[in-house]
Amino acid sequence: MKSAELRTSFLEYFRSKGHEVVASSPLIPANDPTLLFTNAGMVQFKDVFLGREQRPYVRATSSQRCVRAGGKHNDLENVGYTARHHTFFEMLGNFSFGDYFKHEAIRYAWEYLTQVLKLPEDKLWVTVYEDDDEAADIWLKEIGVDPARFSRIGASDNFWSMGDTGPCGPCTEIFFDHGPEVPGGPPGTSEADGDRYIEIWNLVFMQYDRDKDGNLTPLPSPSVDTGMGLERLAAVMQGVHANYEIDLFQNLIRAIRDMAKGADPASPSLRVIADHIRSCSFLVTDGVMPANEGRGYVLRRIIRRAARHGHKLGLNDAFFHRLVGPLVTEMGEAYPELVKAQPMVERVLRQEEERFAETLEKGLRILEEDIAGLKGSEIPGKTVWWCWMRPLSTPNPAARWVTPVSCSPRA
Ligand code: SER
Repeated sequence: MKSAELRTSFLEYFRSKGHEVVASSPLIPANDPTLLFTNAGMVQFKDVFLGREQRPYVRATSSQRCVRAGGKHNDLENVGYTARHHTFFEMLGNFSFGDYFKHEAIRYAWEYLTQVLKLPEDKLWVTVYEDDDEAADIWLKEIGVDPARFSRIGASDNFWSMGDTGPCGPCTEIFFDHGPEVPGGPPGTSEADGDRYIEIWNLVFMQYDRDKDGNLTPLPSPSVDTGMGLERLAAVMQGVHANYEIDLFQNLIRAIRDMAKGADPASPSLRVIADHIRSCSFLVTDGVMPANEGRGYVLRRIIRRAARHGHKLGLNDAFFHRLVGPLVTEMGEAYPELVKAQPMVERVLRQEEERFAETLEKGLRILEEDIAGLKGSEIPGKTVWWCWMRPLSTPNPAARWVTPVSCSPRA
């Protein structure tokens, strides 16, 4: 099943269960200063959960574009080096606003996975929050999950919150067992860090609003917020282990390899770039511009990380913006806003690449000159800072680049 088919199948399943199919919201959360980026499907429904906003429906489903780079859920440094970390991903979710609760949420999830997608029950593992006897009973007594593939886990994994404040609650998670040939143990064991058992779906029972002092106030009505990573599910359905092996990423990686002829097909840089073109393109589509602070700074860091990995593949000219086209081919149908923004996204990425290339070239020149004049084998920290960190870290755009003449450590 292709990623695009999976997205449609999920939304159609929940439509058939009376859910309104709601479009993904932008990556910049509306009126929410507590969040850097939309990092989950529930973000656009936060005020509905809190009882501050009414919608004409009490059940919703969406495929939400999410970014987890910077802020509470930040995966940037892992991206490219693990099978599953991404700066950008799509979260499939179903939501109940004071309508159904634990029974239906669990039944829908199980039915979708085992009846619609036909995943074998003995490949699934379920966890619940350690104190949630109600959810445990539903799984074990109503659904009939094998107790040998079931565990209770504490708040670190099974109590979900959007940020430091806001709606939160206990959750139950469904894992897929990728088989004994992959190292790792079941959830809740000391080997759980391995890659064998992969969490595919998180069902959160939204029950509380957490304030800044950590106090939990019950929500007006208990609700449901679920999230399933489309890429992880696609990996399961396509019989591969790493998300980067799914159709969507393979097509992007092919486009990169077409530019970087001769690149090692196993290079993590291919995955880094394939991941980063998605977050950068959607961030620009949603109105984020490269800058030296806030959201724009995160975007700038991601673009520059992609450019550095491009260099590693021998791509020394601006290349990144040329991947927007292949991305539109993959995702344009599901996200028409990306198609509309394509020319603007290409322009912004190209300008940033060119600017970075200039910075890189100047920095390298200074560094090489300083190294040539060195006595001993240590590069002074000051040189490194002035040449590399300052142009990236200063919050003052006018001081983006300190020219060699005014560079005091060199004087
Ligand atoms: N909000 C939960 C999560 O992000 C479930 O959607 O995992």
